[in-house]
Amino acid sequence: MNTLTDTKVAVLGAGTMGRGIAQIAATKGHETVLFDISGDVLAAAKASLEKVFSRLVEKERMTQEEVDATLGRLTFTSDLKDVAGSGFVVEAVVENIEVKQSLFGSLEELLPTDAVLASNTSSLSIASIGSACEHPERVLGVHFFNPAPLMALVEIVPGIETAETVVQETRALIDAWGKVTVLAKDTPGFIVNRVARPFYGESLRILEEGIADAATIDWALKSIGGFRMGPFELMDLIGNDINLKVTETVFEEFFYDPRFKPSFTQKRMVEAGRLGRKSGKGYFAYGDDAQRQQPVEDKELGQTIVDRVVAMLINEAADAVFMNIASPKDVDLAMTKGVNYPKGLLAWAEEIGLSTVLERLEVLQEEYGEDRYRPNPLLKRHVRAKNSSFFS
Ligand SMILES: NC(=O)c1ccc[n+]([C@@H]2O[C@H](COP(=O)([O-])OP(=O)(O)OC[C@H]3O[C@@H](n4cnc5c(N)ncnc54)[C@H](O)[C@@H]3O)[C@@H](O)[C@H]2O)c1
Repeated sequence: MNTLTDTKVAVLGAGTMGRGIAQIAATKGHETVLFDISGDVLAAAKASLEKVFSRLVEKERMTQEEVDATLGRLTFTSDLKDVAGSGFVVEAVVENIEVKQSLFGSLEELLPTDAVLASNTSSLSIASIGSACEHPERVLGVHFFNPAPLMALVEIVPGIETAETVVQETRALIDAWGKVTVLAKDTPGFIVNRVARPFYGESLRILEEGIADAATIDWALKSIGGFRMGPFELMDLIGNDINLKVTETVFEEFFYDPRFKPSFTQKRMVEAGRLGRKSGKGYFAYGDDAQRQQPVEDKELGQTIVDRVVAMLINEAADAVFMNIASPKDVDLAMTKGVNYPKGLLAWAEEIGLSTVLERLEVLQEEYGEDRYRPNPLLKRHVRAKNSSFFS
């Protein structure tokens, strides 16, 4: 039986992610405490949640009574002691291991041993966060995507010490919140931030080689590949500094595996202050009088770009299965629900033909002689065994 269904929820950190997670918990009927060290952030979170709820009333997605009841369940506080009585805590403070460890240590003094302590970290290991606790068996990762109330996916990440019951109870709770949960191993980038790397990395490589410009690569991946956004407009939206940081972290955490090597182009963009939309200029210019670069709509070139990027993405998805990071089903769910890919990458491989994907990777590896293009052993094994699917 799930013991977390009616529990009080504490959300730590009232920034972008914390306020979204608190919105979900309170909407789902939990008494919810939103904690932050900054009074200004708490005030901003309260104002923004009130605005979100009033928009939901306008759109007739909630009644005023429901909103009043939901806001009545929410407490905004800068006193950590107010988390007392919570059975489920989601930490969403700054991405800093010392800050997170110190917070988890303090939580144990305030909560009984059966309270579940979850972290929304994107890049830190659950093992390292749990190591700050006397009871690491109740610590795990619950990785929401931004914006948390709208994005369906949540990666559930047990650490080495996490108890199986804690995983099951947490998964049942988040499922009951209407999310799609996938189980991921405690490894860098979990599923989505690992498998998605080539979407940016290979596109940057194609740009660096001068095969096509940013507008053309974006056009190809959108209009031929079916992706909702092109890699360059997406990097501009995320912020090139943030995207570079994730890439660098994944690269370092994978002990410098060349598959994840960051790009000089991206580094120079950050050094030059071309951060993307937030700085007014990234790969593209933004603002009222900005001139939008026009793509070269060459279908053959576009298809070459899509084939190369998608082959690299499939190779990474295969690796996530090969290394037991997640099941094939969860890898595909993660990419469609977490980053809105048009298809699951492993299902896509089946559509293209596993041997065709392998051939494309072998051509790249032969041409460049670089390890980043090495085909995954699982893909090779399936082709050798004449299996047409990662799912059978
Ligand atoms: N932004 C995203 O797209 C995204 C997506 C998934 C996961 N995450 C992860 O979620 C976490 C939060 O990210 P964010 O984007 O919401 O950050 P944010 O900067 O918007 O918010 C972080 C908040 O933490 C607060 N804070 C700092 N130290 C604190 C402490 N000791 N106690 C309580 N509050 C403290 C800050 O005042 C700030 O309000 C990070 O671990 C990040 O990696 C972010």
